[in-house]
Amino acid sequence: MVRIYAVEDERQMSRKAANLISAQVILKPDAVLGLATGSSPIGTYRQLVEWYEKGDIDFSEVRTVNLDEYLGLDGRSSASYRRFMNEYLFGKININIDNTHVPNGLAENVDRECRDYDRLVEELGGIDLQLLGLGHNGHIGFNEPADAFENGTHVVDLTESTINANARLFARREDVPRRAITMGVGTILQARKILVIVSGEDKARAVRDAFFGPVTSRVPASILQLHRDVILVADAGALRLCRI
Ligand code: GLP
Repeated sequence: MVRIYAVEDERQMSRKAANLISAQVILKPDAVLGLATGSSPIGTYRQLVEWYEKGDIDFSEVRTVNLDEYLGLDGRSSASYRRFMNEYLFGKININIDNTHVPNGLAENVDRECRDYDRLVEELGGIDLQLLGLGHNGHIGFNEPADAFENGTHVVDLTESTINANARLFARREDVPRRAITMGVGTILQARKILVIVSGEDKARAVRDAFFGPVTSRVPASILQLHRDVILVADAGALRLCRI
C-alpha cells in the first residue's frame, strides 16, 4: 500500500522525510536505515544534521546500508556515493562510520561484492526504513528500466538518461562511470518500510507511471505498489500529473 503525503515544495518534503526518519531512530535506536544519494535527499540529510546538533536525535547505534555506488570510483573520489554520504551526513552526526555501508566500487571481484552486500543486509537483520529517490525514467537505486526485475545486488549498465542526469556532478560527461553496483528490487522490497521522496515537475511523469500505472520492469519503481508499507512524500510539481 502506498500512502501519499502531498507537500508544497522541496523544503517541506525534506522536513517531512527527516521527521519520518527521526521517528524511526527514536523508536528503534539501532535501526537499520537504507540510504540514498542524489539531489533529492540532500535537504533531508541537512535537516537531520540540524536536529542532531540540537540534541534531538542520537545516531550512535544506527546502522546504514546505501543503495548503490559507481563501479570504478574510489570512495574518496569526489563523485563517489561513499564520499557524498560522508560529506552530507555521516561526517556531521555521531554515527559510527564502521556501521555505515556503501557498495565498494573498486571491488576486485564484483560478483562476490554483490553477494556479500546481500548477505550483509541479511546479517544486519534487514532494513527497517529504506529511503528512495526516483530517477526520471522510474529507476530506484540504479535499477534501470529492463525486461525483467533483478532481485539481488547486481552490476548495471547505466542508461544514457541516467548518465546525462548525473553528469552535473562530474567535471566532464566522459567522467561519469557507465556501470554501477546497485541493490536489487528484491532487497529493496524486503525493507519493512519504504520512504520515497520526489520533488519537481521534471519527475511528474515518473511519479504518475510508478504509482498510478501498471507494475512493470520498464518502470522499476512501479514494483513499490506491491509493498505493504510505502510512504511517498512528493511536492506539488512532482504530483502535477496525478489526481489525488
Ligand atoms: C540517481 C541515484 C538514485 C537517485 C536517482 C534520482 O542516479 N542512483 O538513487 O534516487 O538517480 O536522483 P536525483 O535525486 O538527483 O534526481
